[in-house]
Amino acid sequence: MRFSTAPVLLGLAGSSCASAIARRQANSLESCPGYAASNVKDEGARLTADLSLAGTACNAYGEDLTNLKLEVEYQTENRLHVKIYDADEQVYQVPESVFPRPDGSEGCEADHSALAFQWTETPFSFRVVRRSTNETLFDTSAASLVFESQYLRVRTSLPDAPHLYGLGEHTDPFQLNTTNYTRTLWNRDAYGVPGGTNLYGHHPIYFDHRGANGTHGVFLLSSSGMDIKIDDTDGQFLEYNALGGILDFYFIAGPTPKDVAVQYSEIVGKPVMQPYWGFGFHQCRYGYRDVYAVAEVVANYSAAGIPLETMWTDIDYMELRRVFTLDPERFPLDKVRELVSYLHEHQQHYVVMVDPATWRGDYEAYNEGVSRDIFQKTPDGKIYVGAVWPGPTVFPDWFHPSTQGYWDDQFLKFFDADKGVDIDALWIDMNEAANFCPYPCSDPDAYANKSGNPPKPPPVRENSGRPIAGFPEDFQPTGTSQRLLARQENSTGQWLGLPGRDLINPEYKIQNAAGSISNLTAPTDIENYGGTHQYDTHNLYGTMMSIASRQALLARRPERRPLVITRSTYAGAGSHVGKWLGDNLSTWHHYRNSISGILQFASIFQIPMVGADVCGFGDNTTETLCSRWAWLGAFYPFYRNHNGFDSIAQEFYMWPTVTEASKNALSTRYRLLDYIYTALHKQSETGLPLLNPLFFHYPEDLATAPIDVQFFFGDALLVSPVTEENSTDVSIYLPKDTFYDFFTHERVDGNGEWVNLTDVAFTTIPLHIRGGSIIPLRAEAANTTTELRKKDFVLYVAVNSTGQAEGSLYLDEGDAVDQPETSLISFTYDNGKLNVGGEFGYATDLVIKEVTVLGGEAGNSTGGYQTKEAASRTFNGPISLSEASTHSF
Ligand SMILES: *[C@@H]1O[C@H](CO)[C@@H](O)[C@H](O)[C@H]1NC(C)=O
Ligand SMILES: *[C@@H]1O[C@H](CO)[C@@H](O)[C@H](O)[C@H]1NC(C)=O
Ligand SMILES: *[C@@H]1O[C@H](CO)[C@@H](O)[C@H](O)[C@H]1NC(C)=O
Ligand SMILES: *[C@@H]1O[C@H](CO)[C@@H](O)[C@H](O)[C@H]1NC(C)=O
Ligand SMILES: *[C@@H]1O[C@H](CO)[C@@H](O)[C@H](O)[C@H]1NC(C)=O
Ligand SMILES: *[C@@H]1O[C@H](CO)[C@@H](O)[C@H](O)[C@H]1NC(C)=O
Ligand SMILES: *[C@@H]1O[C@H](CO)[C@@H](O)[C@H](O)[C@H]1NC(C)=O
Ligand SMILES: *[C@@H]1O[C@H](CO)[C@@H](O)[C@H](O)[C@H]1NC(C)=O
Ligand SMILES: *[C@@H]1O[C@H](CO)[C@@H](O)[C@H](O)[C@H]1NC(C)=O
Repeated sequence: MRFSTAPVLLGLAGSSCASAIARRQANSLESCPGYAASNVKDEGARLTADLSLAGTACNAYGEDLTNLKLEVEYQTENRLHVKIYDADEQVYQVPESVFPRPDGSEGCEADHSALAFQWTETPFSFRVVRRSTNETLFDTSAASLVFESQYLRVRTSLPDAPHLYGLGEHTDPFQLNTTNYTRTLWNRDAYGVPGGTNLYGHHPIYFDHRGANGTHGVFLLSSSGMDIKIDDTDGQFLEYNALGGILDFYFIAGPTPKDVAVQYSEIVGKPVMQPYWGFGFHQCRYGYRDVYAVAEVVANYSAAGIPLETMWTDIDYMELRRVFTLDPERFPLDKVRELVSYLHEHQQHYVVMVDPATWRGDYEAYNEGVSRDIFQKTPDGKIYVGAVWPGPTVFPDWFHPSTQGYWDDQFLKFFDADKGVDIDALWIDMNEAANFCPYPCSDPDAYANKSGNPPKPPPVRENSGRPIAGFPEDFQPTGTSQRLLARQENSTGQWLGLPGRDLINPEYKIQNAAGSISNLTAPTDIENYGGTHQYDTHNLYGTMMSIASRQALLARRPERRPLVITRSTYAGAGSHVGKWLGDNLSTWHHYRNSISGILQFASIFQIPMVGADVCGFGDNTTETLCSRWAWLGAFYPFYRNHNGFDSIAQEFYMWPTVTEASKNALSTRYRLLDYIYTALHKQSETGLPLLNPLFFHYPEDLATAPIDVQFFFGDALLVSPVTEENSTDVSIYLPKDTFYDFFTHERVDGNGEWVNLTDVAFTTIPLHIRGGSIIPLRAEAANTTTELRKKDFVLYVAVNSTGQAEGSLYLDEGDAVDQPETSLISFTYDNGKLNVGGEFGYATDLVIKEVTVLGGEAGNSTGGYQTKEAASRTFNGPISLSEASTHSF
């Protein structure tokens, strides 16, 4: 039922003339009149109304708009779209070319929706209610609606102490603070990823979890800079304070947290499938001074017997940090090609970094960009020059129709498989876009010439004379050396942004940790091709580069799945790329809160290919931190050790404990590789996340709501790392459920209590299988994923309290964009009987060699970590992976 509590007030709108009213004092927000609804047309699946300013404009931080429109669509049974926009449609809206809207055209009759839209006409406010319980989920009557030229405000009241998640990117607790908390969204180069500040990505989605009452999601489709405030000073509330754009809300009903995840994926797009080898282990650092140093690391991993799937190179490979160049002394082309061939011959891979900032000087990448006119321009029409790694730099305008071709051509030339750097995947960085030169950066040359601005590459090293094991003799160091986007339909003509705004210093100041919104990035008055401005589109820059880079990889190698790892993201980026969590530090705090980071991206933002820099990027790591992190990282979807320039070396072979820990961790991860690959496939098809916070599995158990140092890898594996420095103890929460120790197969009956584990060695991690799960594993680990794919499988059948379990296995060729042959095999087990079914399109001779059934008599489970000796039984196969079968044990 909807209701409307006040008569329509007509005529007020005409009485205020926003533009004629002088700017007001700081406290004027309190006098903002709100809007009155009129001309309400309710067509069941769709409702529209006119909103007019309901009194004297307050002009708190700009000019109040007098005439707005309301459009409400019941798009699906679980999705309600509420859009409030200017009647003239001049105000900027996120271009469809960057963020295609979900199809809501079919609509859903209001009565069939899980959500109900209710409104009050004057002052206008609305509520979103869950129909099954009449619970209010969102209620804007908490403060008047403000819609100004450069400031928008909406406040919703919330229940006390709500369980909220999302609103990234941040390094705060996964469950958001609910008092005195401001979450600023404005993409920023954020070295050290400080808590309580805006970081690299922009994700205005939150999940509101209310235990047994259900979970819902609220997505504000906006790319504008904003402060989202959560506090209880005036009743519990959440308040959006945005610098522009419109109010384009999607409410998703759940009612379970996983349902919300799925429904959000229907809005932002399902994540893209990644190559199988991308789940292998990656090694990187900033500061490998030459190609020989890189080769030594490859050789050292091999000598240590630690599987290395992919070697990465940071900006060190570039000549004076210029993109699309090689340093002729440190990274000569012939040696780089030899290195890459060596890697490829050993079933390994190679990745380098590319930045958007292009050196402004006489070289191909700059000259070609100038001739195609694709660089960003200042309002007076000159190419904008900032300063990044190479000194003075210019930045591609991803909106320009020639930029994709330019980018494709740079890739085709520089990454040419026969003559260039034959990379297998791509790393894109600094794409917020980062600019070292503080606003207004009026003299980038002077800035860049100051010593240390930006840092220069290290000197060429002396001949070390050491041979590099496994590499040819002539490879040894000698001498001194060592979218745009196909569719642009709506980027001109409409939604370009109101004219006459102060695009540099809006009156409302978001709490950007970099200061003004133009500081340390491309200035916000830059006009993009097509007429929008960076003021409105800044937060899209990294995702537009991501889309263009993915397309450039496809142009270069159309048949292979591109693996692209980016730093900056906008909502929906997961349907194009993966993400690493940026420049963290080698601290126990960052080790712990990396889990909040991976959960945000994989479980909330639908960017599942995610990981933090293992062992930490900045500062020096320690043997114990790196040992623990080697294990934790094995349960990140994207597993990469990466290190900063000034830090001590932290390759896994540097310390004995880390060597052992990483070998154990990699062995476990590789045996589980198909399990997580299957989970990614599921997320890419359905939106069901490959990582699960505990409350996703146990929504009614509110004790799980704040837990963010334990998580489920896939659906079945509970990861509970030791969290404190030097400690070998950890207190873990076990929900009321059956668990099994992954390594010993002991049964552990969870009782909804905290359980203390002791003597957890630095070379292992507490890992439990959730009862009711069947996990496919490779029978053995291997040194590369290529070798791994030749291994047979085994199954772990971990039964629930009534003797059942289920699981699945997705198989395909692993690397191709088109996969004509795939298998999606389902396993079900019920008290002694295993059923193997599903689809068997992938031809394979591999089999399931054996099946281990975990579980037996229930132990005495009162009071914590009671274990019972494994009653696990192993049965020999083989079981075919090519056809359905049933087996009795
Ligand atoms: C919700 O409210 C409506 C109107 O007051 C009432 O008819 C309905 O029974 C309520 N539903 C529930 C589940 O309480
Ligand atoms: C709120 O947070 C700010 C910034 O973190 C802090 O300076 C201030 O003291 C806090 N206020 C209260 C009432 O806790
Ligand atoms: C959030 O709450 C945690 C735990 O109370 C606190 O340590 C942290 O400082 C808070 N963060 C912010 C940004 O307010
Ligand atoms: C669930 O709903 C009931 C009834 O409205 C309410 O008392 C309770 O606080 C709600 N629980 C949560 C976690 O929101
Ligand atoms: C362009 O915008 C108009 C008006 O909002 C809309 O009807 C149309 O579908 C849009 N076109 C595309 C291709 O997105
Ligand atoms: C820009 O950032 C620099 C470096 O942090 C800072 O010193 C300066 O005050 C900032 N400028 C503005 C306009 O915010
Ligand atoms: C890291 O260790 C090196 C070598 O011991 C030392 O020079 C450097 O100052 C350390 N860095 C930090 C941030 O402690
Ligand atoms: C951890 O152990 C190291 C080496 O013994 C010591 O230097 C450090 O202070 C310890 N840290 C804590 C938090 O106890
Ligand atoms: C676990 O350890 C904590 C702190 O060391 C202690 O307070 C708690 O009582 C212990 N719990 C159990 C079940 O032993």
